[in-house]
Amino acid sequence: MLVLGIESSAHTLGVGIVKDGRILANERSMYPIKTQGILPSSVAEFHAKMVNKVIKSALAKAGVSIKEIEGIGYTKGPGIGTCLQIGMLAAKTIVPVNHAVAHIEIAKYFGKLKDPIALYVSGGNSQILKLDKSSMHYHVLGETLDVGVGNMLDSFARSAKLNPAWGSTVEKVAQGGRYIPLPYTVKGMDFTFTGLLTYAKKQIGKASLQDLCFSLQETAYAMLCEAAERALLLTNSKELCVCGGVAQSTRLKEMLEKMARLHKAKFGYAPNEFNADNGAMIAYVAEKALKNGYVESLQSCSINKIDRIETAEVFL
Ligand code: FE2
Repeated sequence: MLVLGIESSAHTLGVGIVKDGRILANERSMYPIKTQGILPSSVAEFHAKMVNKVIKSALAKAGVSIKEIEGIGYTKGPGIGTCLQIGMLAAKTIVPVNHAVAHIEIAKYFGKLKDPIALYVSGGNSQILKLDKSSMHYHVLGETLDVGVGNMLDSFARSAKLNPAWGSTVEKVAQGGRYIPLPYTVKGMDFTFTGLLTYAKKQIGKASLQDLCFSLQETAYAMLCEAAERALLLTNSKELCVCGGVAQSTRLKEMLEKMARLHKAKFGYAPNEFNADNGAMIAYVAEKALKNGYVESLQSCSINKIDRIETAEVFL
């Protein structure tokens, strides 16, 4: 089956094409972010201008014509409403795909994992998830009680005037830094980041920026590792994956790999191209749904800015 997927939940517009579980194309255009955050209406306008071009380039890369496409997946949510609408309107035979499910499924595919504990970490989300195979829905075992780890790092980057103001710049500046103790909050398998962020922001100008970036990253990732470790042990799981935009961090993967090895669990993840928002993951999940006989009429399609993962039915 030949399926095209459109991802447009935030600043990345991605179009991917999948044929029988094989990724043929993964094209994207990204709204430029410098030192500011993103304005939803401007991003939607940018995506609307780019969408046809990105679809054409994905079709060319895959060497197929639009007429051969048998189904189109789009991100239903969660995400920015104005941006999600562009993806839905660009699709025609439609499969609504939950963004978080897509991040996990593509990580399982590349990591060759069957039934992992998933640490899903991005700008707006940070959750520890496990698929319940009897109901085919994900259970949220733990999550951030305030902001996502990515948004926390981006917010710090903006306050520290890093350019571009996002987490990967924090990771670069952190190289060779020394550890300064910062607030650390894990509650069972839940965690919070705002206390850490507020404290770290107050240290800007007082402590070295390199030490601050290093310590902020180490503290936040250690919190994620502790919660993921608890989930792994409590569920007796032998597989762990990390996915989502923040899974591009080398340091986070290093820490999780070490923890998984300690418990003889297999650790897997997707290449960075597929941890960033991308259309291939949407196409991949849409194809599975279509093969399971899922059909949705154009009239009943919708977007959902919140679209919690536990409400999404999963097809394997
Ligand atoms: Fe994402």
